Amino acid sequence: MKIIMLGAPGAGKGTQAKQIASKYSIPHISTGDIFRANIKNGTELGKKAKSYMDQGLLVPDELTCDLVVDRISQDDAAAGYVLDGFPRTIPQAEALTEALNKRGEKIDYAINVEVPDENIVNRMSGRRACLGCGATYHVVFNAPKKEGICDSCGGELVLRDDDKPETVQKRLNVYHEQTQPLIEYYGKADALAEVDGTQDIDVVFSDIIKILGE
Ligand code: AP5
Ligand code: MG
Repeated sequence: MKIIMLGAPGAGKGTQAKQIASKYSIPHISTGDIFRANIKNGTELGKKAKSYMDQGLLVPDELTCDLVVDRISQDDAAAGYVLDGFPRTIPQAEALTEALNKRGEKIDYAINVEVPDENIVNRMSGRRACLGCGATYHVVFNAPKKEGICDSCGGELVLRDDDKPETVQKRLNVYHEQTQPLIEYYGKADALAEVDGTQDIDVVFSDIIKILGE
């Protein structure tokens, strides 16, 4: 099963993608997590990506597309995957479609998690992210068992550099301009499914299971 998560920054793509990956035993591939791991490890890719991410801008397509096409070609992705944060522009979607076409494959579901902008800024200020495994928490809506420590891997939880309110607003603008057109793109490809992302995390997940099947 090949799945894409669509939705604004903070809509809950990562939160739901983790649960989908676990239920269907497929890898969760988040370009944001890949970039953050590279920043943490001080790689060349990380240095380049950081300058864009800190401003709330997208990392250029040429740094992103090959990375994802390589990742989905690995053995653990043979039975499918859940892509979170990619594609994010029409050229990225076209690059993905082309790479899949070459293998006679296609995306099965593009799940759009819908949350209005008003709800997003609130959520982001309470978000805590694990730099170790990419798990995401919220101080109110999804608190870790022990404050500041990841339930899954014991890593340290941090406030992301790009979660300051002014950067969140910039990311929302970039989303509307560059990423929202993908809803129509995957609608035309007959892969689009929509869920109401303002509901409780568990309710959103059960709506997603209804789409993907038990
Ligand atoms: P990325 O890491 O992908 O960030 P994003 O898309 O802005 O999305 P977020 O991770 O902020 O939100 P999310 O939807 O995953 O929400 P979450 O589950 O955490 O990208 C970061 C940057 O990297 C980009 O700005 C860009 O620069 C670069 N980048 C990445 N991919 C790229 C690409 N393909 N091309 C170019 N550049 C790229 O949830 C948010 C919070 O809300 C959490 O605290 C969570 O606990 C809480 N929450 C979740 N669901 C609910 C709910 N139902 N009710 C209440 N709270 C909830
Ligand atoms: Mg995320």
